[in-house]
Amino acid sequence: MKLTIIGTGYVGLVTGACFAEVGHQVVCVDNDAAKVKLLQEGGIPIYEPGLEELVKGNVAAGRLNFTTSTTEGVEKSDVIFIAVPTPPMADGSVDLSFIEKVAREIASAMTGYKIVVDKSTVPVRTGDKVTETIKRYCKARVEFDVVSNPEFLREGFAVEDLMKPDRIVIGVRSQRPVAAMKEIYAPFQAPVVVTDINSAELIKHASNSFLALKISYINALSIICDATGANVQEVANGMGMDARIGRRFLDASLGFGGSCFPKDLSAFIKIAEQMGYEFGLLKEVQRINAEQMNRFVKKIIDTLWVLKDKKIGVLGLAFKQNTDDVRMSPAIELCQRLQKEGAILRVHDPKAMEKSKALLKDVTYVDDMNEVAEGCDALVITTEWDEFKKLDLERVRKALSHPILFDGRNLFDRTEMERLGFIYKSIGR
Ligand code: UDX
Repeated sequence: MKLTIIGTGYVGLVTGACFAEVGHQVVCVDNDAAKVKLLQEGGIPIYEPGLEELVKGNVAAGRLNFTTSTTEGVEKSDVIFIAVPTPPMADGSVDLSFIEKVAREIASAMTGYKIVVDKSTVPVRTGDKVTETIKRYCKARVEFDVVSNPEFLREGFAVEDLMKPDRIVIGVRSQRPVAAMKEIYAPFQAPVVVTDINSAELIKHASNSFLALKISYINALSIICDATGANVQEVANGMGMDARIGRRFLDASLGFGGSCFPKDLSAFIKIAEQMGYEFGLLKEVQRINAEQMNRFVKKIIDTLWVLKDKKIGVLGLAFKQNTDDVRMSPAIELCQRLQKEGAILRVHDPKAMEKSKALLKDVTYVDDMNEVAEGCDALVITTEWDEFKKLDLERVRKALSHPILFDGRNLFDRTEMERLGFIYKSIGR
């Protein structure tokens, strides 16, 4: 099918590349001319495993094209996906100005029936607003359908999540666009949920909030485990074997971050408030998450006492593994908190060092993860990169002035670390 994706951020670019990979003819539109040029020349603006090969291969095969012109994108396809950012505003509500602008642009360019699909994460009832806007600005008075089709990909696993989705959610007002939507997704062989637009929009906010709740739940349990000597991983394993609960997203950590969970939680709380409901449960999820970071910082201070002029090595800057994304990264927040206490930092991340430089100044960026500990009073692990599990621990212990390791992601076995001579502090174990 001929498909256009407006917005080439994480969601738009990966969606476009995967649609092309399964044989659709795809046009990706972005108003950033430099980005479009880079993509046309085979460059990739983000690090995402498997994406570069996918983009290059499909550009070469002629199935994936990039342009800055929304009009061209609308003319070339019958189905237009909106995948532009929906950033948070100061009060936690969602800034929908990009969605509104793109809806107007699509409306002005339409000369025949189009299906306009919203992929961006939006508040419930945005579909109604997009429909009204297109009606208002479409001079040609042609027919169209608005569809809600939220995306559930995780950064770092985006290609895998898109190619093998758990489910496809399609929110519609009438049956007319359903066949086309099903045809687009047929190659992905996933269960399809066809529902109304409001429910589809809610599924996205409800899912992300529930996953964040799962993390805050295990993080709250980690406090009980710390206090009692129980092991939070053992608790998570035992809970996770219950099929009704499941093991995933029960990894205690120094808190969740990224460009989705914090933003979507705030947005969902605000949406509920506007409907007259105070979503106290989700406010508690936020509170536990903030508290988890405070506790981790306190653990470091309790052990090292005064941080002023202490040298601390930090492994991990991205908000999670397999990405170079540092937006709302707990690792960056931790570094800034340690700097505020006067600590001197040596930091490393396998992919996120370049993007960190704008946020994290006056630190030493170290290329080799095994050299970060050199001359440090302690080492802190903040991101769950698989690479870190392969650290040369013997070398790290010798490099540290004091063999203290704070593991904010529970990557190592406590008994083994103590056997190797580390003073090892993790989360809830
Ligand atoms: C999330 C959703 O998973 C995805 O479906 C949605 O489309 C976008 O938001 P993403 O933000 O890319 O994806 O990352 P995710 O893997 O969900 O992790 C979010 C944060 O939670 C990270 O900081 C991660 O380290 C943390 N996390 C995750 C935990 O602390 N513990 C866990 O068990 C899982």
